[in-house]
This record gives sequence, C-alpha cells and structure tokens, in this order.
Amino acid sequence: MHDKAPTVSPVNYTDDTVRGFALAAVLWGVVGMLVGVVIAAQLAFPDLTYGIPWLSYGRLRPLHTNAVIFAFGGCALFATSYHVVQRTCQVPLFLPWLAKFTLVGWNLVIVLAAITLPLGYTTGKEYAELEWPIDLLIAVVWVAYAVVFFGTIGTRRVRHIYVANWFFGAFIIAVALLHIVNSAEMPVSLWKSYSAYAGVQDAMVQWWYGHNAVGFFLTAGFLGMMYYYIPKQAERPVYSYRLSIVHFWALIFTYMWAGPHHLHYTALPDWAQSIGMLFSLVLLAPSWGGMINGVMTLSGAWHKLRDDPILKFLIVALSFYGMSTFEGPMMSIKTVNALSHYTDWTVGHVHSGALGWVGLISMGSLYYLIPRMFGRTSMYSVRAIELHFWIATLGIVLYIAAMWIAGVMQGLMWRALNPDGTLVYTFVESVKATWPFYVVRLIGGVLYLAGMLVMAWNVVMTVRSGRAVPSVIPQLAAA
Ligand code: HEM
Ligand code: HEM
Repeated sequence: MHDKAPTVSPVNYTDDTVRGFALAAVLWGVVGMLVGVVIAAQLAFPDLTYGIPWLSYGRLRPLHTNAVIFAFGGCALFATSYHVVQRTCQVPLFLPWLAKFTLVGWNLVIVLAAITLPLGYTTGKEYAELEWPIDLLIAVVWVAYAVVFFGTIGTRRVRHIYVANWFFGAFIIAVALLHIVNSAEMPVSLWKSYSAYAGVQDAMVQWWYGHNAVGFFLTAGFLGMMYYYIPKQAERPVYSYRLSIVHFWALIFTYMWAGPHHLHYTALPDWAQSIGMLFSLVLLAPSWGGMINGVMTLSGAWHKLRDDPILKFLIVALSFYGMSTFEGPMMSIKTVNALSHYTDWTVGHVHSGALGWVGLISMGSLYYLIPRMFGRTSMYSVRAIELHFWIATLGIVLYIAAMWIAGVMQGLMWRALNPDGTLVYTFVESVKATWPFYVVRLIGGVLYLAGMLVMAWNVVMTVRSGRAVPSVIPQLAAA
C-alpha cells in the first residue's frame, strides 16, 4: 500500500473493543458449533430430545445458523474490521464510545436471539428469523457500526484507502440495505409480526436478501480479512493490487443479481430464474480472481506453509472458497439444481463455504490478531494451532464428502422411475439410505467442534499469560 509521507507521531489505537469482539467470536464459535453438533445428532438420532419443545430441531436449527453466522462470524468481522481500519488509516477508531456501544449492542442481539429462538419466536424467514424488536436493535447497532467505520476512514492520515477497507465497507453498506428492506414487517404484538411482502414477491425479496447475506456477510467481509491478514502473515505484498480492485467491483456488482437461483422451478417468472443463473455463472470469474490473488500472494514464500499453521488456516480457507464458488455456479444451472435442490448436496455446499472458508479464514485471522491484542508475539501454543488445523480439516472433509454423496444419492433416488411411471423408491427408503452419512457428518462436526475447543483453550492461556497492550503504538504499521 502507498502511504503519504510517513508520519511518526504516535497513534492511540482503541483496541479494547477489538479485544472484546475477538474473545466473543471464540465464545460464540464454541456455542454455535455445539448447537450444530446437537442438530446433526438429532438428524441421525431423531428421538434424542423428544418431547422437549425448546430443544426441538425446528427451534435449534435457526439458533445454529444465527449463532454461527451472526454471532461467531459477525463478532470476527467486527473485531477484524476495527483492527484493520485503524492500522491502514493510521488513526484510532472514530467515536470510541460508539464502537463500545456496538460491542454491547451486538452481543445483546445475540443473547436475545439465544432466548427467543428456542422459545419459538420467529418470523419464519431463513437467516432473518428474529422478531421485530430485535430487528430494530440490529438496525441501530449497524448504523452505529457504519458511523464508526466510515468515520475512521474519513479521519484517516493516509491518503489511500487500502483494499481490505473497500470490502469491509461494502459489507457494512450492503448488510444495512439487505436487513432494512427484507425485515420490513407489520407487528401484531410484541413478539409477532408479518412480512410487508406477500407471495412470490416475498420469496424474491427473501432470497435477494439470503443470497446477498452469503455474498456480503459470508464473503465480502471475510475477503477484507484475506486482503489484510494473508499479506501480513506471509510478509509479502498482495500479489496484484490492480486485480484486487477489479475483484472488488466485479464481485459486488455480480452478487446482487444472483438471488433467483434459490427459486428455480418456483412461481418466480422463468426469465428471472434465468437471470439468476446467468449472473451466478458469471460470479465464478471474480470469485476465482480473488482466490488466485490471495493464494499467489504466497509466491516466493511457499515454504512458509510448511511450518506456519496460521498460514495453513488462511490458505486452505481460500481453497475451500475456490471450491464452493465453483460448486455454487454449477448448482445454479437449472438442470443441475433440479437434482441438487432439497437434498443434502445443498447442505454440503453450505458447509464447504461455512466451515472451510468462513470458519478457517476467521480462525486464522483471530490467531494473528489475539496475541497482538494481548501483548504477545504469538499464541500460547503454536502446536495447538497445528492440532486445531488438522482436526478441523479432517472434520470438514468428513462433513462435506458425506453430504455430497448423500445429496446426489437422494436426488437420484427421488427421480428414479419404473417403466410404468411409478416411483422406484419410497421417500422413507431414501431416508434409510441417508442414515450412515448423517452419522459420518456428525463425526465430522464433533471433530470441527473439538478444534474450536482447542482454540478456546489456547486463547484463554494466551490472554492469561499476556497483558493488554498499551494503547500508544509509536510506529507506523505497514498495511
Ligand atoms: C461443528 C460444526 C457444524 C455442524 C456440526 C453443523 C451442522 C449443521 C446441521 C446439522 C445443519 C442442518 C442441515 C439440515 O437442515 O439438513 C446445519 C445448517 C446450517 N449451518 Fe451448520 N454446522 C456447523 C458449523 C457451521 C458454521 C461454522 C456455519 C457458518 C459459518 C454454518 C452454517 C450453516 C447454515 C447457513 C445452515 C443452513 C443450511 C441450509 O439451509 O441449507 N454451520 N448445520
Ligand atoms: C459463486 C459463488 C456462489 C454461487 C453462485 C452459489 C450458488 C448457490 C446455489 C445455486 C445454491 C442452491 C440453492 C438451492 O437449490 O436452494 C446455494 C445455496 C447456498 N449457498 Fe451458495 N453459492 C456460492 C458461494 C457460496 C459461499 C462462498 C457460501 C458460504 C460461505 C455459500 C452459502 C450458501 C448457503 C448458506 C446456501 C443455502 C441457502 C439455503 O437454502 O438456506 N454459497 N448457493
């Protein structure tokens, strides 16, 4: 990155909020993945929590998705974006008290979600299940986040705005837009509301939201992490800065139009479905451009992958990103979707992105960030990071391979016809055939959770043996 004339005056970074969000990310990661393991166990052993309403699958599933996406992923995004924007702009956070408000407010949202979802309060819209009072709180916290982030950029001491901030910025603006439009609803009581949209319009708005939640919440912000932490950890500049700018504009433009691929063969007009498919296919190019840019940042330093477990997290995350952004466009082709939709293939795709990309890139970035926030040069145990990496990777492979096989099998069984046009298999036969794969997925999930517990232990030990770093850092941090 090209700074103006270097300034040597000290910068008072406001890192207490970063510390808070980083620790919260680890805590919510453990909780969200634990709930994931419970629902995976329920799918293999359906009687597990029979008769206890608040532990039923239908209530815990949205708890899992909200906890891993918005609590674990969200806190990791808050922590890293606040960390990166200060270093790359060479100024402390704008309005530190407002940043603290986002820490308290966002965690309050999480606690409210953890109470209301098991009690059965839900709007029924996937990834937007929280009821209207919580929606309002989210909107307020998010606007505060935007003020802090863009205020920090506005007061920067460096002329250039580093590319990671573009990705974080797009994520913040897009999520505000998506949340406000998709959550338009009519309250009928304190904990019940109805969507402002009806019928197929409701479905289209929901999946415009849902897909862009993937594009902006689960992708753009994490690409911001990639553009800062990979060059930092590899001690190499970004492979092509020019490509990163093309990557940015192409990605954010294309994502917005791909939502209809979630509504193939529905009441949505056919032309809208085809547009969704077309843009999804185009999306392969910017996604892979970004992945290649990240991976090639290691050129000349490949040997570091051998003994640096943090780099392993970051680079393997990118390989899973490449895999899921190849698979997604394929699944958006209508004839492929006719096979994959409603099957566990979708769940496999989701988790190759979620565990492989979102999970690993967050963990790698937190492993870089946390020791530095507590006055250490590295985590308490580097061998524990290595251990975490291998059990998490093994867990992902078991999870997604099981779901791919199960998914394709289910799709083929459901469409198999006898010569007289009757079904070859009953639905229950496909459920029975899926059972062993649910058990393998459960084992994969337990391994992934075990890795997260190792991380939590390592973080606790790092914090206990470290110290909160002084807020005055008298040197320029290269971006
Ligand atoms: C220990 C790790 C995890 C386990 C065992 C696990 C397990 C599960 C299970 C059993 C489901 C329900 C699948 C179904 O309805 O058939 C699910 C759904 C989901 N999980 Fe996870 N999960 C884990 C981690 C994660 C993480 C880290 C993320 C995101 C960052 C994530 C995101 C999702 C999403 C988005 C869905 C909904 C998928 C859909 O509607 O197609 N999961 N998970
Ligand atoms: C080029 C990029 C991508 C494209 C074109 C794409 C496309 C698709 C398609 C076609 C589906 C299946 C829709 C259905 O049959 O219902 C899907 C589902 C999904 N994808 Fe992707 N995908 C991409 C990348 C990703 C990544 C990187 C992630 C996660 C980090 C992700 C998360 C999800 C989720 C959560 C769902 C399930 C939504 C639901 O039904 O609840 N996708 N995606």
